[in-house]
Amino acid sequence: MFRNCLKQLDPYKAGKPISELKKELGLDQVYKLNANENPMGPSTEAMKAIATIIDQISTYPDAGSDRLRLALSGLLGTKPSQILLGNGGDEIIRLVTEILIDPGDEAIASVPYFTLYRNNVQLMNGILKEVRFESFDFEPQRILEAITSKTKLIFLTSPNNPTGTIIRREKLIELLGQVPKDIVILLDEAYYDYAADCLEYPDGIAYLKDYDNLIVLRTFSKSSGLAGMRVGYAVSSEKIIEALLKVKLVFNVNILAQAAALAALQDPRHVQKSIQQNKRSLKRLYDYFDSNGLEYVPSFANFVFVNFDRPVLEVIQHFSKDGIFITPGTVWGYDNWGRISTGSDEAMTAVINSMDRWMKK
Ligand SMILES: Cc1ncc(COP(=O)(O)O)c(C=O)c1O
Repeated sequence: MFRNCLKQLDPYKAGKPISELKKELGLDQVYKLNANENPMGPSTEAMKAIATIIDQISTYPDAGSDRLRLALSGLLGTKPSQILLGNGGDEIIRLVTEILIDPGDEAIASVPYFTLYRNNVQLMNGILKEVRFESFDFEPQRILEAITSKTKLIFLTSPNNPTGTIIRREKLIELLGQVPKDIVILLDEAYYDYAADCLEYPDGIAYLKDYDNLIVLRTFSKSSGLAGMRVGYAVSSEKIIEALLKVKLVFNVNILAQAAALAALQDPRHVQKSIQQNKRSLKRLYDYFDSNGLEYVPSFANFVFVNFDRPVLEVIQHFSKDGIFITPGTVWGYDNWGRISTGSDEAMTAVINSMDRWMKK
């Protein structure tokens, strides 16, 4: 009955909502550190904007998210016609594969990568070629070596999920300069704001003027704390945005989401507070790992990938008794590693105390 490609697809296993976890486990307090959500919540401006527009939900939203597009273009220094809003960054990834991948075509991603890339490529009957680096550091040459006549798309993620590493400026330039212009590069910057103050971290938008095969993906889900609203966007050449517009659902970003995202843009202080909280939480985790000799990858995002030195599934079992949920590295083939999202001060205390009890066992 179903298309053949569905045989190789598994449904994405998203973390359950906090209310569900509490009910299921009979716990009063749950620390959900498996989805890289923002512990500061949404900006109050975004909440007010939703309350103001709530009586309009009987009408269709603006199909082009025009006000939001205009505001973003002003901030980013691009034309509005270079931006496409999506139902989260997820939709952008889906649309990009839809416009590029014919059956048998190839896309490239470096291991470990955000797992939705594979699902989307396979859904189009394409092949995702995996590239491995020596360490977690980005190696442009390995990507270039993987290119064939069938390559249509290259996924780059900076900061990367699950490692939190960035692609440094000179490495990005090296790659952009050598990838044939008929291959599209999707530079996924979902965690951009957390890395933006690093001098070696390149702002992908700056390269759009020279590379019309580049798409930069960003989202309101992380530093803006609007994951539940589902708003992400692509910034690219007008040629690519026009192609994406042909395949997107007409009313892909709902009316509340558009209002919330627009208000969030006007509240950069909330993003700054979120970045500060993230720095504080990362430092507490690093200090704990350092003093206990645990290996980890220094992160430019709102999570950290850590080697527990024993099966992560055991750690996860221990954590879950304390109401703490993290992502096992087994998802990416790293059986002793786990990805911990940074949370509130209280959540970090809970994680550290729980780890401490477990280390002393
Ligand atoms: C690397 C990366 N890209 C894109 C996304 C999609 O985010 P959203 O659909 O919430 O905008 C995520 C979400 O976790 C991610 O980690």
